[in-house]
Formats: sequence, C-alpha cells, structure tokens
Amino acid sequence: MAGGVVLITGAGQRLGAATARRLMDAGYFVMVHVRTSVEPAEELLSEAERRNGRVCGCIVQADLTVDDALEAMVNQVKEHRLVVQQGLFGIIHNASFYSQSNFEETSLEQYRNLNRLHMEAPYFLTQQLLPDLRRGQGSVVAIVDTSWGRAWSGLAHYTSSKAGLRQLMLNLAGELSDIPVNCVAPGAIMAADWEAEHFTKVLEKVPLGRSGKAEDIAAAVHHLLVTPSLSGHVLHVDGGWSMNEG
Ligand SMILES: NC(=O)c1ccc[n+]([C@@H]2O[C@H](COP(=O)([O-])OP(=O)(O)OC[C@H]3O[C@@H](n4cnc5c(N)ncnc54)[C@H](OP(=O)(O)O)[C@@H]3O)[C@@H](O)[C@H]2O)c1
Repeated sequence: MAGGVVLITGAGQRLGAATARRLMDAGYFVMVHVRTSVEPAEELLSEAERRNGRVCGCIVQADLTVDDALEAMVNQVKEHRLVVQQGLFGIIHNASFYSQSNFEETSLEQYRNLNRLHMEAPYFLTQQLLPDLRRGQGSVVAIVDTSWGRAWSGLAHYTSSKAGLRQLMLNLAGELSDIPVNCVAPGAIMAADWEAEHFTKVLEKVPLGRSGKAEDIAAAVHHLLVTPSLSGHVLHVDGGWSMNEG
C-alpha cells in the first residue's frame, strides 16, 4: 500500500464517497464511515478493489450524534490492524445533515443534534485519535461551507454549527504544533442529477457560472493531505461564489 490510512466520515455516498474513491485509487486504505449507507459503501469498496487489485478500505458504522456509538467507533478505528501498525494519515470530517428550517420552528433538540454532528463528533474524534495521527504523521481536514460572515435564510442551525467546526479546526491548526489542520469549503457542488434545477438559480451568483463536481472536493482534500506545510487554511471550492453577495 503506497499511502496511509485515512478515516472519512459520512463517506458512503456523494462528496464523501468521491473523496474515498480518489484516495483509494491513489493508494490509501480508506476507513469509510457510514451511518446508514452500508450498501453503497460496500459497492464503493468492491469497485475500488476491482480497479486496484487490492483491498482498499473497510466500513465503520456509527451514528455520530450518539456518544456510545462515537466511542465504539474510536475503539474500532484504533484497533484496526493497519492503524495499530502505522497510525492514521488523515481524518476527514465530512458527515453532515443539510435541511432548511425556519429559525422559529427549529427545536433545541434538532439544533443540538447538528452541533453534535458538526462540532462535537469532529472534536472528539480528533482528540481521541491524535496519538494515531501523530504516529502516522497525519493531518485533519474538515468539510465546512461558504456561509461564513453572511445570513442565510432558514439555515441558522446549519451555518452556525459549520462556523463552529471551522473555528475549531482553525484553532487546532494554531494549537497543535505537529498536526496540519485545514478546511475545504464547498460552494454549489452538484452530487446528483436531481439537484440541477436547484442549482440553476444558485449559479447566477457564481462567477464561474458552473457548479463544482464531487471530484473537485476530493481533489482539494487530497491536495491538503499530501502538502504537509499547509495548515490553517480554508480552501474555497466554489467557483468564486464567496467573492459575490450571497
Ligand atoms: N453538496 C454541496 O453542495 C455542499 C455545499 C457546501 C458544503 N457541503 C459539505 O460537504 C460535505 C459533503 O456534502 P454532501 O452533500 O455529500 O453531504 P450529505 O450527503 O448531506 O451527508 C454526508 C453523510 O453524512 C452522514 N450523516 C448524516 N447524519 C449522520 C449522523 N447522525 N451520524 C453519522 N453520519 C451522518 C450520512 O451518512 P449515511 O448516508 O451513511 O447515513 C451522509 O451520507 C458536508 O459536510 C456538507 O456540509 C456540501
């Protein structure tokens, strides 16, 4: 195996799966975390094995909003034979739950769940797996978004938890002396054909006038992982959208 071991959360489908695919094809062993997408993840792994002629990864399953599940997942990662041997080369905090919801109608429980998913799980996973990252000379990448500094209707719960994740990562980039920590901020990334109609309106605001592809996010993550002098960056992959008014 040319690369090291990389853990990606929420990697059974869409952007996470594209990132897993790219890293597996580049020689990494990818621990594909899922909550429910077991079948797509199995397909992702068997296709990668067919293409590359080797076992390219494994599945770890957990609901990241449940403390016991999170702890069990940490142990599963730590006890994996390859992690024991060589540590971790990367953790990609990608898992997310996007929904629009009026501020006045969004319950505290919904908000807490999103904070657990976007902030607490990345906090705990990074903290608990730090010794493994150190042994593997690894780095951390969080997938945030381009909402920073602006108001987005119906998204206060989502954008504020992503802002927390972004600040957590930037803080760690300064605080951890030996682990590079960065973010990728996707703009309008079309991960499925059914999103085309929604994106038509969004693209009027994007200087490049086209949506990104899941593979663009995968390439950005890969670039950050293999460039150890990069730390504390938020790499916007958004066709210039964040340069314009929301
Ligand atoms: N798509 C875009 O245009 C866009 C734009 C800006 C930012 N982003 C960010 O880019 C990343 C990937 O985007 P995406 O659209 O591919 O993400 P997504 O499909 O919304 O979510 C990725 C995965 O997160 C997992 N997940 C959800 N709730 C979970 C929970 N409670 N515990 C564990 N896992 C959970 C799901 O896993 P299962 O399927 O296994 O249940 C899901 O497949 C996200 O962080 C997103 O916020 C995307």
